[in-house]
Amino acid sequence: MKLTIDKNIEEIPYYPKAAMYGVGDGWVRLASNENPFPPSPFVLTDIIDALPNITRYPGGENELKEAIAKKYHATPNQIVLGNGSDELIEMALKAAKTSDRRTVIISQPSFAFYAISSKVYGYNLCKVPLGKQMEVDLKAILDAIDDQTRLIFLNNPLNPTGTIFQERDFITFLKEIPDEILIVVDEAYAEFVENKTFPNSCKYINEFPVLTLRTFSKAYALAGLRLGYGICEASLASYLERTRQPFSANTIALIAAKSALNDEEHLKRVLENNKKGKTYLYNAFSDLSIAYVPTEANYILFRVGRDAEGITRDLFEEKVLTRWMGAYDLPEYIRVSIGRMEENERFIEALKNIMQRRRAHTFTR
Ligand SMILES: Cc1ncc(COP(=O)(O)O)c(C=O)c1O
Repeated sequence: MKLTIDKNIEEIPYYPKAAMYGVGDGWVRLASNENPFPPSPFVLTDIIDALPNITRYPGGENELKEAIAKKYHATPNQIVLGNGSDELIEMALKAAKTSDRRTVIISQPSFAFYAISSKVYGYNLCKVPLGKQMEVDLKAILDAIDDQTRLIFLNNPLNPTGTIFQERDFITFLKEIPDEILIVVDEAYAEFVENKTFPNSCKYINEFPVLTLRTFSKAYALAGLRLGYGICEASLASYLERTRQPFSANTIALIAAKSALNDEEHLKRVLENNKKGKTYLYNAFSDLSIAYVPTEANYILFRVGRDAEGITRDLFEEKVLTRWMGAYDLPEYIRVSIGRMEENERFIEALKNIMQRRRAHTFTR
């Protein structure tokens, strides 16, 4: 091929689509922080009723915006919808583009798509290491700001560690931010958080340049439909909208999301299961003398040492999908999503056998 490709694009690694592997019977899929349960039964019936409408371009955005706005004490013109929160990440980068400020700050590690999309849109990346508890280090991010900084991605809870930053520190941080910088707070896992010091960042959208991102992919179990949303000050929302592909939120996703928001009982059951699974996995890791990072999300990062990649592969052989964290600069760690109890048990059983085999092998060498 003779076409010359920009260096920024050439350097982008493929997004690790682990969820695509191991589809079919008998697999325990704990690699992509998905919800192990189906969505609310009301979602499924509403989707079926809406199917004849797919002949037309999607309508129904206003109804969903109204429902979301009500939940957050916001107004519909402060809500932006997208094809997953992934699209909102891109919209933020597109809308914030200027010629004089070209740097995006991210925590390293953090959700892989921030770095990928920043490169696609031609930004320079500034990667700030995590703090001692593997949390987003707000102070270090403040220190990293310079006259080129345009956008900061804060991920709370942080993927892949599950740690959070606290409201007190977030307010101190916001007060220090120059006006020209957009703060994107990605709260994809916020529904799972139990810690009371967690800041609901959308409280600050009118006072500071904050864009809060949420999604229906995790707690609401609609990952396959692709629907995320942003909450921000109304003028910023209008600029984000201008960068958006028309109709990126499809008819079925709009109906499903509105219906999912209404079923609070279903959400409660999902969160309860997550809590139980978390306790089970914490205890199992402790029994196996495996160190883990306490999580506020629906996944747990754990440390197995230098052979983490091999252990992930062995788990795969047992039809248990987890995520080796090499791509996140944590080569001794694996991330596992919290599943249904029988899935958690199968994962632990497989991990126990693999670790025992390895320990016996080390011992006899
Ligand atoms: C932190 C974080 N943000 C955003 C996303 C993307 O979510 P969505 O499915 O809404 O595009 C993910 C997906 O795993 C994530 O972990």
